[in-house]
Amino acid sequence: MAVTKIDKSQLKVGMFVEAIEGVWQDSSTLGRRFTIRSGHEIDLIVNSNISGVFINTALGQNASGSPLHPAKNIASATRQDKFETAAKIQGHAAEARSLIGDIFDGRAVTVESFTPLVNDVARTMEENPSLYIGMSRLRSRDNATFVHSLSVAALLLHFGRSMQMDDETVQHLCMAGMLHDIGKLSIPKQILQKQGPLNAAERNVVEQHPGLGYELLSANLNMPKLVLDICRSHHERLDGKGYPDRLMADAISPEVRMSTICDVFDALTSARPYKKGWSSPQALSWMMCREDQFDKGLMWRFVLSLDPEMTKGIL
Ligand SMILES: [Fe+2]
Ligand SMILES: [Fe+2]
Repeated sequence: MAVTKIDKSQLKVGMFVEAIEGVWQDSSTLGRRFTIRSGHEIDLIVNSNISGVFINTALGQNASGSPLHPAKNIASATRQDKFETAAKIQGHAAEARSLIGDIFDGRAVTVESFTPLVNDVARTMEENPSLYIGMSRLRSRDNATFVHSLSVAALLLHFGRSMQMDDETVQHLCMAGMLHDIGKLSIPKQILQKQGPLNAAERNVVEQHPGLGYELLSANLNMPKLVLDICRSHHERLDGKGYPDRLMADAISPEVRMSTICDVFDALTSARPYKKGWSSPQALSWMMCREDQFDKGLMWRFVLSLDPEMTKGIL
């Protein structure tokens, strides 16, 4: 892996900056990807509000510090691993299904009800962090939404930990992953499970799922704000072309941006009856090219949390 994250105070002349994390006002002066040529350029970065810098050591000078890998990497699992633990995941999916179903049916579900499942997912991620990737064969049409929600929950948990977020935030991220598509349960199955592309009217119906989910979850007074935000805004885009509120970048929080990354990554890498799933490197490369849609700095953080095997060919 040639890209690593460093603190802005570690910058040196000769380093190649691949991406900047945070709000970067001087991209017109230095460009989006550039080699540091002078102390003045370092000063521009150090005196800005950005929070971190991603340098590419294949294209520029190395950092003196060690690369930042705060969480265990998601390693590639063997078929055997996946086979052996499929039952465990099926169990988690069934549990997620029952919790999501309870909320959908209007039963009072406390935040604490999610704790055992969140802990189970966390434990499984520690034992074998790649399990939730490529679970396509578990996705029958009937349980596709639940298994997808569970994958997004596990990815968000891992992502949050790799960002060294506090335990409560990580727990809420995981819960948000499980509930982000709850609004889809209100969408007619013939649209949701349609093979092939949707027409405009059908797309319109599907695009109501974040709003429907938000209304449903808002009825639960104890629902954490982060869960509500992610449910409502996980299809927003940085360029304002997302839905349902067409939010612009500054109105989209880092946690929501993280949820969008995990959501799309899982959608691209999983197979559907009408399409083959993409490989992880294919999906990540596609996403890395879309800065108008995904936060580039967070994309790098996500990539760096994965095993190099899964990110081959991106750099
Ligand atoms: Fe969604
Ligand atoms: Fe989703």
